Amino acid sequence: MDPILSVHGLRRYFPIRGPFNRRRGWIKALDDVSFDLMPGEILGLVGESGCGKSTLGKTLMGIHQPDAGSIRFEGAEIAGVAPRKNRKLRRHLQYAYQDPGTSLDPRWKIGSSLHEPLIIHTDLDQAARDKRVRDILAAVGLPATHLDLYPHEISGGQQRRVGLARILTLQPKVVILDEPTSGLDVSVQATVLNLFGELQRLFNLTYIFISHDLAVVRMMCRRVAVMYLGRIVELGPVEAIFDRPQHPYTRSLLAAIPRIGGARVTQDFWLEGEPPDPGNLLSGCRFRTRCPKAQAICAEEEPALSAAGGQQAACHFPG
Ligand SMILES: Nc1ncnc2c1ncn2[C@@H]1O[C@H](COP(=O)(O)OP(=O)(O)OP(=O)(O)O)[C@@H](O)[C@H]1O
Ligand SMILES: [Mg+2]
Repeated sequence: MDPILSVHGLRRYFPIRGPFNRRRGWIKALDDVSFDLMPGEILGLVGESGCGKSTLGKTLMGIHQPDAGSIRFEGAEIAGVAPRKNRKLRRHLQYAYQDPGTSLDPRWKIGSSLHEPLIIHTDLDQAARDKRVRDILAAVGLPATHLDLYPHEISGGQQRRVGLARILTLQPKVVILDEPTSGLDVSVQATVLNLFGELQRLFNLTYIFISHDLAVVRMMCRRVAVMYLGRIVELGPVEAIFDRPQHPYTRSLLAAIPRIGGARVTQDFWLEGEPPDPGNLLSGCRFRTRCPKAQAICAEEEPALSAAGGQQAACHFPG
């Protein structure tokens, strides 16, 4: 089977501006990121705040242009192509914002927000648009009466459903879900997670699932990518990563999960200190100052992602 999305050497730097708007340096929000996404899978993307998860989602979606690297969607290159030229292809790749409020215009009724992408991207007439909007609204579990409400008149969980409905009206193949359950209470979280599963079957979707919540990632995803300061440091099947993490950073992330009953997978590492300044990265491995295993070589050579156990890890001393 060929990957539906194939990302290679993706890079996105943001300038750091000093006085008089002079550039003082770069934040390497994405630094040489590569992975394949297989049709129908759910790939989890985890890592601390600021490691580049949303930047990856937005760069794939074309909201940010990459500085280097390639993004192939069903074999066709979409990185660096003018948005107007590949609008047809892009439609199949959608990004659900981390903050559901931002994707809905507060002055528009839900109905208008759901019609808008169809007006921009398709030739459907009013009746056909109406039907599609109502079908999708029902699929995300909201009554048609919601079409006449404003975003502030519905709950956070409902806003998320509307955000998702808005994306689904375009019949995408790949959906990037950015922190789709943050801010929801546990019972609503469970319903929303079930909904993702149902929609996946109903619309044949492939997901990239960005989340802080490792327990949710473990439940939802088949494979996981762990990011640290703009790089993927570990990538592999969910069982391998959770049961036998190979990168010290992954071990420390897992050690930080609170558990009720049962033993932790790893009790040995705790993340110490803050992540280094992303605008002023260290030589060699960017995790080394927080790593209990660091040796001389870690300061000299940046480790590449390579086979370790049943997965891949970017570490000189995996395991
Ligand atoms: N538009 C931008 N301009 C400048 N810097 C940016 C921009 N967007 C993101 N950054 C920087 O890039 C880095 C990665 O940010 P990003 O939003 O991708 O992190 P994240 O992993 O999604 O974090 P969180 O878990 O908090 O959502 C951060 O250091 C951030 O400050
Ligand atoms: Mg984010």
